[in-house]
Amino acid sequence: MTMRTRPLGTTGPQVSALGLGCMGMSALYGDADRTESIATIHAALDAGVTLLDTGDFYGMGHNELLIGEALRTAPAELREKAQVSVKFGALRGPDGEWSGYDGRPAAVKNFAAYSLQRLGVDHIDVYRIARLDPEVPIEETVGAIAELIEKGHVRHVGLSEVGAETIRRAAATAPVTDLQIEYSLISRGIEKEILPTTRELGISITAYGVLSRGLISGHFTRDRQLGAHDFRAYSPRFQGDNLRHNLDLVDALRKIAERKGVSVAQIAIAWVLSRGEDIVPLVGARTRERLTESLGALDVTLDEADLTAIEEAVPPGAAAGDRYPAPQMAHLGTE
Ligand SMILES: NC(=O)c1ccc[n+]([C@@H]2O[C@H](COP(=O)([O-])OP(=O)(O)OC[C@H]3O[C@@H](n4cnc5c(N)ncnc54)[C@H](OP(=O)(O)O)[C@@H]3O)[C@@H](O)[C@H]2O)c1
Repeated sequence: MTMRTRPLGTTGPQVSALGLGCMGMSALYGDADRTESIATIHAALDAGVTLLDTGDFYGMGHNELLIGEALRTAPAELREKAQVSVKFGALRGPDGEWSGYDGRPAAVKNFAAYSLQRLGVDHIDVYRIARLDPEVPIEETVGAIAELIEKGHVRHVGLSEVGAETIRRAAATAPVTDLQIEYSLISRGIEKEILPTTRELGISITAYGVLSRGLISGHFTRDRQLGAHDFRAYSPRFQGDNLRHNLDLVDALRKIAERKGVSVAQIAIAWVLSRGEDIVPLVGARTRERLTESLGALDVTLDEADLTAIEEAVPPGAAAGDRYPAPQMAHLGTE
């Protein structure tokens, strides 16, 4: 199979139509198996996935070291095609606590120096602050990335979870390739203002949470036990009545998936793919089995009747519960 590609904005490279988000291999969704994680990255590269997404704070460097090892041990021709997208700026403590964001230019360069070392690469393909630092104008943070680009350490500027005004200010400072933001059948907040803004400015969307962190994957069950370090144990959408309501939506999607002979996850990913060539879903597979399922979405065609049925099963705003717990909602520039 030849992997389809999509452009990363009008100023960026072509990337695989699906990217691999590596976060869950190190953090936030409970334990992951290191050997299987590396095998998953290798399988993704082998299938033609070029875009690998990480953050320097995912497991406090663990995720970058993991990707570094996967790249080092991959065949050279696949390693050379890999495009690594890195988020920085989130501050952590030794116990894993979160303590804000740092977008000062000196900090940006410091973060980048460590990321390059951990990843074992000579440049980062797309570099972005994970959340806006409220103390630092976006122009200063993006300006620091532009300096890293001039020196060859970074190729492109990206953004993450920022609103229309910040997108405009960033794009006026330097060319921006993509905005990374949550977008799925049950997280459609970007459609009103953010998506029209990125489209006007020629910026792509790298969509995360396409499966709503597994909630609409078809594999999540009402009685699933989540560990204390699993984000989903605190996420409003996974709690009590919200979870019951949201899994009812998944049951409605399952009927459509069964009619088409595909899986629920494939319907959810194919729906995001169907939103436009400027949208690149990042799938959070951390096993080869889940990766294969995700890649299968590239072969799913949704016709008008399918899209209508999907919209009826999960209308906009159908989900119960916010995307993040309240303290984290406060950091989003997008809500
Ligand atoms: N910019 C930001 O603010 C931000 C925020 C979050 C994530 N991200 C990036 O976006 C990436 C994707 O986000 P995400 O991991 O939350 O997305 P996701 O794809 O919605 O969720 C991934 C989870 O869904 C479950 N799953 C079930 N079936 C699957 C399948 N066929 N393929 C993949 N996963 C399946 C897995 O959980 P189990 O293994 O437990 O079944 C997996 O850990 C992250 O890895 C990260 O790089 C960015």
